[in-house]
Amino acid sequence: MKINNLKYEITNVLVIGCGGAGLRAAIEVKKNNISVSVLGKRAKNDAHTVLAAGGINASFGNKDHEDSWEQHFADTYVEGYELGDPEIIEYMAKNALDQVSEISKWGADFEKLKNGKFDQRFFGAHTFRRTCYAGDYTGQEILNTLLNKCKKLNIPLIDSEYVTDLLVENNTCFGAISFNIHTGEKTIHIADSVILCTGGHTRLWKKSSSRKLENMGDGYFLALKAGCHLIDMEMVQFHPTGMLFPEEVAGTLVTEAVRGEGGILLNGKGERYMEKYDKERMELSTRDRVAIANYTEILEGRTSPNGGVFLDISHKNKDFITSKIPKIYRQFLESQFLDISKEPMEVAPTAHYSMGGIFVKSPNHDTNINGLFCAGEVSGGLHGANRLGGNSLAEILVFGKVSGHYAASYSKNLTSQIRSKKVIEKVSNEISKQIKHGDFIPISLQEELRNIMWKYCGVVKSKEMLEMGLNQIEKIEKKANNLDVRITQNNCNDLIAAYDLKASLITSKATILSALYREESRGAHYRSDYKKISKEYNFNVILNYKEGKLELKSVPLKFPSNRLKSFIHKAGKIISYKGKLLE
Ligand code: FUM
Repeated sequence: MKINNLKYEITNVLVIGCGGAGLRAAIEVKKNNISVSVLGKRAKNDAHTVLAAGGINASFGNKDHEDSWEQHFADTYVEGYELGDPEIIEYMAKNALDQVSEISKWGADFEKLKNGKFDQRFFGAHTFRRTCYAGDYTGQEILNTLLNKCKKLNIPLIDSEYVTDLLVENNTCFGAISFNIHTGEKTIHIADSVILCTGGHTRLWKKSSSRKLENMGDGYFLALKAGCHLIDMEMVQFHPTGMLFPEEVAGTLVTEAVRGEGGILLNGKGERYMEKYDKERMELSTRDRVAIANYTEILEGRTSPNGGVFLDISHKNKDFITSKIPKIYRQFLESQFLDISKEPMEVAPTAHYSMGGIFVKSPNHDTNINGLFCAGEVSGGLHGANRLGGNSLAEILVFGKVSGHYAASYSKNLTSQIRSKKVIEKVSNEISKQIKHGDFIPISLQEELRNIMWKYCGVVKSKEMLEMGLNQIEKIEKKANNLDVRITQNNCNDLIAAYDLKASLITSKATILSALYREESRGAHYRSDYKKISKEYNFNVILNYKEGKLELKSVPLKFPSNRLKSFIHKAGKIISYKGKLLE
């Protein structure tokens, strides 16, 4: 183990995170003839992007000719309950078309119509069919294509590196420190600018569509320590359909494509209950509504045998199923021996996506720290209070490119660089300080935290529950000051778990505090003690971190310009939600 050694690497732009956003950002930097390195903690072909299943949105109008980027903008803004940043949404809606065409030219094999254009499927709450797809493995297809492109461009992808701190002096970021998760060797990465593409924090819930060790909130912790602000951390999306069993796969995503391709939801009594919750859009309502509907059916006892609801696509024939949703077919066959062309699946809500995140400015996707950019799930501002399925893959490509472009030009225009020995020593010592004998095992505390988040900050929240959750988290925080962290030959797992735990604790608190602050129900933020949306809460919740404490404030929403408002009206969307929320 080389935990006391310090290695140095120098690059112009450092990308942290080797998922789709990170790779797309790195490609853009390289195209600008600027040196770039990508750091990731997971194996480079296994980033969380592989789990984005059902598709990527772009308003080509190949199936429904009336579609337009304006309609895509209006759907995203309005179905996000007006909390998203209209400028960021406009940019995504306009640029998703080019990004889908480009990645297809680079080799992504999307399903095509007979005329050679992209096929487009329905996803929830989109006015038109606009989700382009590769079966139900669209994220994997996109990631493979980006990896090939990176290889062609000789972009160094360094995996198995855990980043513990960003290097920041005078409000300016000049790199990061990481340790190798196998050898423990520490590396200082000196860079002109840094792009954070580190994903969200939904693994912090007991039932989650994220896998072990991903989406632990580590990116938010890095950002907070660096001095960034977070926005709307209360907005956590629960996907309506996660697997129920066996235990090791509970929470795994059952893609919305199942419903997009005709799947229906039934309760334990065999009733198609979405009629009660959204008569018009039924199973293709917004995710927040379908998740609440599933949750309510379960809570009120109309469950399937294992305590969920049924998702049924067995009325479609096997060839259709294995061509449109091959991964889901295999997933159920291999983990439950269930043939979904014959029998319904049992599903329940699962924590899926962090819609809040690091506060970024439009159009650069830069943060309030000079030289620090971010893209993908770690950033906030796009989805508001409810993300439309298929917008996350559009987001990673569009804003991966944007952040890469601006980080490269920041590097080009830099006239002098900070290299602070004091900062480097501090962050390096910080890693060494974590290794000590203590009374508590980090992974056990992590598991406790996941149970707390699920129980007290789940699909439905209340002041009482949130405060109980906060109280329990504070108890874990105390224990986390006395962790047992041992480094043994080829094993830094305790050290990883210790950092993950600290990140998880602070991001859980950020989520709960923001959820307490918003005394209304809006989209995915559902409060049983404040069931209605309220104009009083037409604001974004901003968090910062000072001397170990989180501070909250509200900032007025950015409302759409008159030009954008006219698109919303033309698209037939209503800006006011009066009476639209579930009572
Ligand atoms: O259901 C899904 O395939 C998920 C897609 C998404 O979250 O965008």
